[in-house]
Amino acid sequence: MKKISAVVLLSVFGCTLVATEVLQSYSDFHLNLVKRSADVPSPRIINGAEAEDGQFPYVVFLTLYVNKTVYGWCSGVLVTPEFVLTVAHCVDINDNYNPYIGIYIEAGSVVRGTPRQSTSLTYSNVFVHQNYSAETLENDIALLKTSEFDCTTPYVQYVKTAPSDWDISKYISNSYTIAGFGTIDNIRTYSDVLRYADLSVIDTSKCQEDYDGLLTFPNNTLCAQDFVEPISAACFFDSGDPLISHYYKHDVIIALNIFVYPGHCDQYAQGFIHLAPYYDWIQNTISDNA
Ligand SMILES: *[C@@H]1O[C@H](CO)[C@@H](O)[C@H](O)[C@H]1NC(C)=O
Ligand SMILES: *[C@@H]1O[C@H](CO)[C@@H](O)[C@H](O)[C@H]1NC(C)=O
Ligand SMILES: *[C@@H]1O[C@H](CO)[C@@H](O)[C@H](O)[C@H]1NC(C)=O
Repeated sequence: MKKISAVVLLSVFGCTLVATEVLQSYSDFHLNLVKRSADVPSPRIINGAEAEDGQFPYVVFLTLYVNKTVYGWCSGVLVTPEFVLTVAHCVDINDNYNPYIGIYIEAGSVVRGTPRQSTSLTYSNVFVHQNYSAETLENDIALLKTSEFDCTTPYVQYVKTAPSDWDISKYISNSYTIAGFGTIDNIRTYSDVLRYADLSVIDTSKCQEDYDGLLTFPNNTLCAQDFVEPISAACFFDSGDPLISHYYKHDVIIALNIFVYPGHCDQYAQGFIHLAPYYDWIQNTISDNA
């Protein structure tokens, strides 16, 4: 437990810098909310390239509110016309605040603020994994039920997630694409445009060594990192960014970003939740709540 609180302090500090600058006009109360949501360093993409319109038609941009005040931004992916998959720590911040959460979802544009389709929802349409833990980050996954998106256009599409039998060991050393709207440096420079980069999956136990004393990885952590200069990396506010396999020309989402190394996004691997172990949870949650 001591180890974990050290992480929280460090990451809160890292993210408070971001929050203070972006949300400087908000009251301390709202900064607290930002700190809470930032207990996990929320990562954006450093380097990489700007996405073309329609290149990642399933990526959506989430703006998170409590009582109409913004507390953060995250990404998600459309897994059916009705359901968005994201990470739990973006949408499950505190039992006392959850009833007041509002989520605005932008789809179909690589420029944030100019969605081709958008929708809003409240906490009653948020389905957080039953065994999610904000302390350990176990099962950091959630589904959002939306009014249906029109997925008959090339700009808004849904995507498959890794099937149950895909194993992390098979991904090691292979390169996958991450896409997101996060910061383009280790501090707080924001991109208004969706960016993407290629990262290599590395052995989770090696990656855990880099984070020793900072974070004990939850089960199903997948690590990915760029080794080719200029180094690309997920950074602040990239939480929920998909890691994409171009499997026989069909994109499949293998993982979602959950953490980065505070203040050194591009020097260490970034952490993801591997989706294959959650394939059944995703399918069952969708069919139970459709
Ligand atoms: C949100 O608004 C409700 C209703 O006005 C209020 O009871 C609640 O305390 C507010 N919550 C937060 C976290 O601001
Ligand atoms: C949550 O954990 C309990 C106890 O380990 C287990 O029985 C249950 O199946 C888990 N729920 C999900 C959705 O994985
Ligand atoms: C993590 O996975 C191991 C091995 O499958 C399991 O025994 C353990 O209960 C899991 N831990 C949590 C917190 O779910």
